[in-house]
Amino acid sequence: MENLRVYGGSRLYGEITTGGAKNAAVAIIPAALLVDGVCTIENVPDIRDVNLILKMLSYLGAKITYPAENTVTIDSSTVSTYRAPYDLASRMRASYYLLGALLGRFGKAEVALPGGCNFGERPIDLHEKGFRALGAEVETKRGQVTASADCLHGASVYLDTVSVGATINIMLAAVRANGRTVIENAAKEPHIVDLANFLNAMGAHIRGAGTDVIRIVGVERLSGGTYAIIPDQIEAGTFMIAAAAAGGDVLVKNVIPRHMESLTSKLEEMGVNVEEYDDSIRIKRDSPLRPIRVKTMPYPGFPTDLQPQIVALLSIANGTSMVTEDVWENRFQYVGELKRLGADITIQGQTALIRGVPSLYGAPVKATDLRAGAAMIIAALVADGVTTIGEPIHIDRGYERIETRLSKIGARIERVYITNG
Ligand code: EPZ
Repeated sequence: MENLRVYGGSRLYGEITTGGAKNAAVAIIPAALLVDGVCTIENVPDIRDVNLILKMLSYLGAKITYPAENTVTIDSSTVSTYRAPYDLASRMRASYYLLGALLGRFGKAEVALPGGCNFGERPIDLHEKGFRALGAEVETKRGQVTASADCLHGASVYLDTVSVGATINIMLAAVRANGRTVIENAAKEPHIVDLANFLNAMGAHIRGAGTDVIRIVGVERLSGGTYAIIPDQIEAGTFMIAAAAAGGDVLVKNVIPRHMESLTSKLEEMGVNVEEYDDSIRIKRDSPLRPIRVKTMPYPGFPTDLQPQIVALLSIANGTSMVTEDVWENRFQYVGELKRLGADITIQGQTALIRGVPSLYGAPVKATDLRAGAAMIIAALVADGVTTIGEPIHIDRGYERIETRLSKIGARIERVYITNG
């Protein structure tokens, strides 16, 4: 059995570099299915979710090569099926991007209902609404979603809820459709802008990404080229919070500071020293943390994907904090694990009431999902004694070689293999 073992109590010093954005990579890789020609994608993180989506493209018939570290080339000209492999697709959330991409490429797509982190119901009704508006018939049967259209055409789509996945999927299906598509109340996350920049670099006509109205004029073909993925906002945020929790002085490199503003302002409110440079952020802390209130929201609000990590940090603040989860209906499942480490947290509906404690203590815990796993690492870094984190496979979905990179800034963390019995 694999575990991460963390010896708490070390302060963090030095430099750590953020990798490419997972949630951009898992959208841009399927988008390569729409391109006639070879795409070279740089700054691709070597993480489980990205490797899984690359495996799915390869299964579909794409030629994939790895010319350098964190660089991938994709030639989709050899893809001839619109059916995604059921077993692989049902294991991850982002497999639903194959729906939009295959529909855009072939006018047909068959993809399993997506898996991924479990935070309550995760419907895809808005994706389906978008595909239908573009002229597709959509059906879900026996765990499989099928979409087909004789001819995709541009349309206006209003998203009743701001959805990252639906915004991306509609962009993918619309980019080669006939005519103009307008997505209103679109998500504005940095990875939406990154996908639009990638598609535009390949010849698409997308305007307004990063605002709540995205306009797409369909083009006949996209040609290949080279594109570098942006730094991961959530990974950078996780490192910033880890440095604030453990104390010390850490420079997080390869960051777009504008993407970090909602976190930066909260860290400053807590008394953490944050210095912004062009493409890096320095975190220093040597005084006690003040309690704060946080509410998660779509970008540019405080990201839900940093909610578990900030709760871990607030569990050692000097007073009581409140964190409200406003994106997912059930994203506090990990709190039981944090309590094993001595955190004092009560959940009231969508709000966590966190009474800061002077110190946490090491214990065996589990990574219940990707960001929950990151929260366990952060708590373990400040806990007295040894913490073992089970099921690090969840952490590996989104963080490349986490233990090696954190060790370089002074964390005492290692991967261990324990045999049962
Ligand atoms: C993306 O998930 C991210 N995943 C998630 O990150 C992230 O938590 C989430 O966006 C919000 O930022 C990927 O990019 C692969 P949504 P997604 O559609 O697209 C409701 C991580 O840790 N909704 O923006 O699935 C939904 O229930 C992962 O990296 C509908 O009602 O999220 C939720 O309340 C975990 N109908 C809200 O919208 C729909 O058809 C936002 O979901 C779609 C969504």
